[in-house]
Amino acid sequence: MSNVPTVRLNDGRAMPALGFGVWRIPDSEAEAATASALEAGYRSIDTAQLYDNEAGVGRAVAASGLPRGDVFLTTKVWNTSQGRDATRRAFDESLKKLGTDYLDLYLIHWPSPKRGLYVETWKTLLELKKEGRIRSVGVSNFGPDELANVARETGEPPAVNQIELHPRFQQRETRAYHEAHGIVTEAWSPLGQGQLLRDPVVTAIAEKHGRSAAQVLLRWHLRHGFVVIPKSATPSRIRENFDVFGFDIDDDDARALDALDSADGRIGPNPYTATF
Ligand SMILES: NC(=O)c1ccc[n+]([C@@H]2O[C@H](COP(=O)([O-])OP(=O)(O)OC[C@H]3O[C@@H](n4cnc5c(N)ncnc54)[C@H](OP(=O)(O)O)[C@@H]3O)[C@@H](O)[C@H]2O)c1
Repeated sequence: MSNVPTVRLNDGRAMPALGFGVWRIPDSEAEAATASALEAGYRSIDTAQLYDNEAGVGRAVAASGLPRGDVFLTTKVWNTSQGRDATRRAFDESLKKLGTDYLDLYLIHWPSPKRGLYVETWKTLLELKKEGRIRSVGVSNFGPDELANVARETGEPPAVNQIELHPRFQQRETRAYHEAHGIVTEAWSPLGQGQLLRDPVVTAIAEKHGRSAAQVLLRWHLRHGFVVIPKSATPSRIRENFDVFGFDIDDDDARALDALDSADGRIGPNPYTATF
């Protein structure tokens, strides 16, 4: 692995604390964006069956010449592929597109409770892990109830729960559950899809440190111990978002950012009411 700091997962494995997210990057552009990220030093890429860009990511990893073991690859099974047979098919397809014979992390993208299949899907992920085809298994957009259900049914809690998380939406209840059960919190939309970059509290802290608003937000995440996966399709921003290990925000800054939490600060869908 490169010199990116890592967090320790509950299965003993290490995961880079900072990775590169590729949602909304079309497959035709994913290779160039991922190549920029690998060039900048990122060694963790977060994609998904739904993003339809696993092939572009795979091409960039192959072209980088990096040993497969130096890159931490995450993808996710989409809701319509939940259930044992469909998940196994989706998994095979994702591996093929990524050009790899194993995943570092495979996530259930959403619990989609209306389908009633997330426990069966979780069991399938555990099966694939046992077969040596996935190193670590996790979930995304799960709340404490779903996390408790999969742990009760299988005795194996997820290593990671990837959730919407940024200063305006801090998910304290779900994070408390993670802390109590050894689950790593991974933050999606860590920059609030760009919306937090203009927040006056964020820009004032950025000015104080002579850093960008994005860098301040990423430091806030890292300080809390979250895994963070900012997305950018812009090479200069990709580099900027990786250049966050040479400074830190202070306690006052962290408190000011913590105080931005808001009950209605969610940007993405609510997993409990989502219709997909
Ligand atoms: N599990 C889930 O359900 C889920 C849901 C959403 C996201 N995710 C994952 O989380 C990743 C990140 O979340 P996200 O893509 O929603 O949003 P994000 O990373 O919070 O923000 C991305 C936006 O911020 C802009 N940006 C990035 N760096 C910037 C910088 N330094 N200065 C100015 N603008 C900057 C990007 O613009 P440009 O690209 O134009 O530079 C883009 O518009 C996704 O790519 C995906 O991998 C997972």
